Amino acid sequence: MGCFSQIKPSYDELLKYNSSDENRLNITLQPSPDNVNEEIQMAGDSKSRISELKNSLGRQVTLFGWLYQARSSGKIQFLIIRDGTGLCQCIVEKGKISDELFEQLKRLGQESSLTVTGTVREEQRSVGSYELAVTDAKIISPATDYPITPKSHGVDFLLRNRHLHLRSQRQWCIGKTRHTLIDAIRRFFNDNGFTLIDTPIFTAMAAEGEQTLFEADYFGTPMHLTQTGQLHLEAAAMSFGRVYCFGPTFRAEKSKTRRHLTEFWMVEPELAFIDLGGLLELAENFVSFIVSEVLRENKDQLETLGADIAALEKIKPPFYRLTYTEAVDILTSQKTKDFLAQQLEQLKDEKQQIENKIGELENKQAGQLKQWQKDKMAAELIELNSELAEVNTKIENNPKHAKLAAEFQWGKDLGGSDETIISQMHDKPVFITHYPKQAKAFYMKTDHENEKVVLNFDLLAPAGFGEIIGGSVREDDYELLVSRIKEQGLDAQNYEWYLDLRKYGSVPHGGFGLGVERTIAWLTGEQHIRQCIAFPRMMDKVYI
Ligand code: 4AD
Repeated sequence: MGCFSQIKPSYDELLKYNSSDENRLNITLQPSPDNVNEEIQMAGDSKSRISELKNSLGRQVTLFGWLYQARSSGKIQFLIIRDGTGLCQCIVEKGKISDELFEQLKRLGQESSLTVTGTVREEQRSVGSYELAVTDAKIISPATDYPITPKSHGVDFLLRNRHLHLRSQRQWCIGKTRHTLIDAIRRFFNDNGFTLIDTPIFTAMAAEGEQTLFEADYFGTPMHLTQTGQLHLEAAAMSFGRVYCFGPTFRAEKSKTRRHLTEFWMVEPELAFIDLGGLLELAENFVSFIVSEVLRENKDQLETLGADIAALEKIKPPFYRLTYTEAVDILTSQKTKDFLAQQLEQLKDEKQQIENKIGELENKQAGQLKQWQKDKMAAELIELNSELAEVNTKIENNPKHAKLAAEFQWGKDLGGSDETIISQMHDKPVFITHYPKQAKAFYMKTDHENEKVVLNFDLLAPAGFGEIIGGSVREDDYELLVSRIKEQGLDAQNYEWYLDLRKYGSVPHGGFGLGVERTIAWLTGEQHIRQCIAFPRMMDKVYI
């Protein structure tokens, strides 16, 4: 194995450094003359997959995939192949395949599709821990000038090229984690006696404020895209007891923050015969379960993404519980002032360290370097500059957020920065309960021990990620609900069927909604939720 061991990129390197050999570009190659389709058909669905290579040690397999990265050192080529299940380093030695194929592979561009045949061997230092000693390969479709290179690219460019950027390791890791999360969400509710109800997307009713409704023309009748399945789910809860819906949700929120999409996915459970305490218990068991499932299934991906795995391992019930009034006391306290001042100092230190690293790299760049080293450094510089921009924004925002917190008045809804502060001060999720009635939706039940507040909660993820769940006990009294609808200037006629639920066997009930993208951002450590869905929809732009 000796001579191969010096070029064993780690996952980390692969993220930063993609194919770079200059002479791989701008060369048009013909697909293999052999009939690759025949091979695909013969392999059927029993094709070897990179994630399963551990079961084929010492055996010959054929991988079907794309060229992710390549490097050549004279008589040996190192091809990193991705097949949708992982990455595998394939070693091509001159003399082990025909000279013609050796030359073709040498000129193959990043993201060309191909099959590679070879013997599987273990190599702990290699990406994925297994590699292939190549005996044959077939080019399916050669690619030239793949637009996403390591010299790259601002966020805007990558979003415009999301159809290609989805192939990057980062997007792949996020997509795999999202898949587990969604599977775990469904399993939790399916295994706990909940029935899935598919609630409509076209609806005439506003539930979460009229200002965030997307209008649709429904054959001449004004209609909206749903902001929540909750109202319909309440009807279903009166039939099935415990229900949930899971689907796309739309908010015409005029907000360009890192936490807002106009189309996001939300899971919403709803239960008959439940109080606020019962809802909090359900939410903390649910969140603990989905975190443990993601940790079990996606540790490799979380590591690659740089997520804080040790912090996620702590996510077990009970979570912290604060009332809104306690949260306001915290925000306006000296403790918070000190906390934010200390944070500002840390941010300044962080800024200095990043600037030093940038300086060192720029000095090195001035020296004699090979092309691949220049590319690697260019990629590192891009990453450092984007970290620097992020730290600068935080330094700029810190005093503004400190001022907002210090001047916070009881009665207002908590803003994004207030949630961030509270969430940064905790190492586990925090429930905030009993918000002022005036700041919340009409359907939330008034707390009869304190008529100024409602029986609701938000759940804030720790470490500054902020709200991932909103929920409440619902107003189950007919008269009180009518007056809340009127108070909020809504037309009671639009809510007739909803009010019926309070006429015919009304019971205490409630539920909550968890946003998938915000949860993924928290689990993966992604700073912006636009990275947490394959094709994001945002206020200012829909790219593809
Ligand atoms: O707090 P929200 O608005 O609650 C509801 O919609 C309730 N009807 C849910 C219920 O009780 N059945 O939204 C719930 C969650 C938020 O905590 C957040 O995770 C996510 O949905 N969310 C958004 N995610 C991305 N972009 C947006 N614009 C979001 N708005 C809410």
